[in-house]
Amino acid sequence: MIKDKMQKAMNEQIKHEQESAYLYLSMAAWFGSEGLEGMAKWMQAQAAEEQAHAMKFFHHIEERGGRVELAGLSKPKAEWKSPLEAFTEADKHEQFISGKINDLMELAIAEKDHAAKSLLQWFVDEQVEEEATTSAIVQKLERAGSAGHALLMMDRMLGARE
Ligand code: FEO
Repeated sequence: MIKDKMQKAMNEQIKHEQESAYLYLSMAAWFGSEGLEGMAKWMQAQAAEEQAHAMKFFHHIEERGGRVELAGLSKPKAEWKSPLEAFTEADKHEQFISGKINDLMELAIAEKDHAAKSLLQWFVDEQVEEEATTSAIVQKLERAGSAGHALLMMDRMLGARE
């Protein structure tokens, strides 16, 4: 049975993951409006991944006899100055989420909640990957600068994401 403290913290995390999905979906809409269909597709895939993350916490709470309680989501930002600005924000956001996962892990350790620790270890590893991916895209976009052809190549490359 999940304890109240962990249940509350995981319900909070469901909100963070859903807000991540919402942010990336908003970025997808912006990229689409800028004619950058590959980046839009990449962000849609990222949003779907975030929803899957939320569902991992959802199922974990339920499987342990807890109660999922959903919170309201904040309105995401809708405009960015450039692809670099959007991906830089995505990268910062992933760092924020990593911090939240680390806080949850600290709580699991303090509460000797081994089941939560097992789930959270997956998220710790996932965040390493997420941060590496977004920071590599930021680096490439920095190199591309405002060169149109480099941006279009990046768009094609990111659109190849499954
Ligand atoms: Fe669910 Fe991108 O962290």
